[in-house]
Amino acid sequence: MSQTVPWPRNIPVLSLASTKGGVGKTTLAYVLATEIARRLMALPADGGTWRRCVVCLDADPNRTLAQVLRLTEHPAIVCVESDSDRLLPDLRAARARADLVLIDLEGTANQAMLYAAGKSDLVLVPAQPSRFDVVEAVKTIGVVRKAADLVGRDIAHRVVLSRTPVLRQRVAEHSRGQFARAGLPLLPVELVQRAAFQSMTYTGQPPYAQTGGEQAAANVTALADAVLAAAGLDLPAIEVFARAPAVSASPAGSVQGRGAGGLAPDAHRVA
Ligand SMILES: Nc1ncnc2c1ncn2[C@@H]1O[C@H](COP(=O)(O)OP(=O)(O)OP(=O)(O)O)[C@@H](O)[C@H]1O
Ligand SMILES: [Mg+2]
Repeated sequence: MSQTVPWPRNIPVLSLASTKGGVGKTTLAYVLATEIARRLMALPADGGTWRRCVVCLDADPNRTLAQVLRLTEHPAIVCVESDSDRLLPDLRAARARADLVLIDLEGTANQAMLYAAGKSDLVLVPAQPSRFDVVEAVKTIGVVRKAADLVGRDIAHRVVLSRTPVLRQRVAEHSRGQFARAGLPLLPVELVQRAAFQSMTYTGQPPYAQTGGEQAAANVTALADAVLAAAGLDLPAIEVFARAPAVSASPAGSVQGRGAGGLAPDAHRVA
């Protein structure tokens, strides 16, 4: 297992943003969190360089990411329910304990989106293959540009095509052309429409842990590789068919609501 790109000391932050609801932000956040957590847990023992922890900040008042992560109880994922008031301190606390922070946002342009984008190394904008979603992606990237102006640096961003049909690649190709013409940078891998991405919301089992989830898991592997590369990061992938440690078996993973008072020091870290 080679670590070709050194992990940054400034803990990376990825945000899932769109001014439109229902485009796949939470789905993408969940599959990335579980895939990256799985990779972190598989890294060889290293005397403590890795914290082996992904912190997810759920900044959507609907708390859909928190709900599914509560089912999953992944030992290397901590989810914190946040909001625009708490986002910056929650992010600071998250960075102090995680290897990577993922922020899932509400499907609307709001203050939380501006804060999250301003602190992000990469903003992912899921969009379905439709003209409506091109328009919304343009609006979302407008917010990212405002955040970049505010913080005085470029903020990397990518549109991620989501729910693309498995067999109708022509639809995805046409759609890619539309996004490209609108000047929107696209991730080269898309999240395909698959039942495994829906059943995981009921079972809390990521595709790699599902019987029959191999193709969805392979999609997630390729997607995570592309996302990490776009963020200038590298974590070795794991053989898709190798079953990961059971995700519901450990009490270590946690979801912390606001009532819990934010991140408890050192809770749920995997040694
Ligand atoms: N690749 C996919 N395959 C199958 N179903 C999907 C896929 N992506 C998303 N979905 C389904 O589409 C719906 C919307 O997805 P999701 O909740 O991830 O969107 P969202 O952008 O987070 O929405 P919101 O803005 O309301 O938070 C969900 O029912 C989800 O299960
Ligand atoms: Mg959502």
